Amino acid sequence: MANLSIKYLGAEFKNPTVLASGVTGVTAATWRSVVNSGAGGITTKSIWLNEHKGHKNPTIITTEHWMMNAVGLPDAGLEKAQQEIDEYNKTKPAPLIASVAGGTMDEFVAIAEKMKDLPIDILEINISCPNVEGEFGLPFACVAKDARKVVEEVKKVSGKKPVIVKLSPNVTDIKEIANACAEGGVDGFCLINTLGPGLYINIETRIPVLANKVGGISGPAIKPLAVKMVHDVYKATKLPIIGTGGITTGRDAIEIMMAGATLVGIGSAVYYRGLDVFRKVANEMNEWCDLNGVKDLSEIIGTVKM
Ligand code: DHB
Repeated sequence: MANLSIKYLGAEFKNPTVLASGVTGVTAATWRSVVNSGAGGITTKSIWLNEHKGHKNPTIITTEHWMMNAVGLPDAGLEKAQQEIDEYNKTKPAPLIASVAGGTMDEFVAIAEKMKDLPIDILEINISCPNVEGEFGLPFACVAKDARKVVEEVKKVSGKKPVIVKLSPNVTDIKEIANACAEGGVDGFCLINTLGPGLYINIETRIPVLANKVGGISGPAIKPLAVKMVHDVYKATKLPIIGTGGITTGRDAIEIMMAGATLVGIGSAVYYRGLDVFRKVANEMNEWCDLNGVKDLSEIIGTVKM
């Protein structure tokens, strides 16, 4: 049996699988059941300072090769999230990454400041949701100077908490964005957020299926893009990365780690393989390590021969 445990920005993960933000419930009980299903860590759904209303149903489409969603970042606000975080912390079974959202620079700074005293391990700033552009304009993750600025401002108020940024694939040069965040003082990255937005039309009614009309694309179809972009950011910054985007099997997880990821985010695969996907992926990684003489998973990070 290989050693699957990984240290990431000061937190110990029993294996590299992490629940991606926005998937499954928002309560301590759900986070615990995800850990009981084998996850090495949890990312919360993006938390807003105040309640934020999402989009109308239908919000999710699942097909064989891809999913598309436009939930619109609904959240009950920090007060409710704080109760769940405190509850989870009573018998904390695995590290907790708190994803936070905001519409403006000031909102990101305000929520980051509140997070600094909460029992979370890492702060993830979600500046890359593709579904609130109508409300707030182009995501900060799509403009290098905005990405740098939000990181700089958040780092000023977030105390000792490590800060990672969730990057968008919807850019021409992800290295430019990653370097700007690195200059702003970011500690690591999570990438990629969903691709698009995309459009799916019911051809009988000629109406888009999602109530929001367009949505972010995830699932197996986007994995090659995630692997390439993780490698680009790894090479450009050398900062530690949570690699996510279509990871469904242990082999996928090994692949994105070879591209440069330290941890592996799993989201859509919960729909494809059930909540148990975390245990399945960790077991499959273990089998691959045994077959390939790898004793410690950290040996493979960034080892792709390019
Ligand atoms: C939503 C948010 C995201 O960050 C994303 O990638 C896709 C969807 C949402 O809440 O709509």
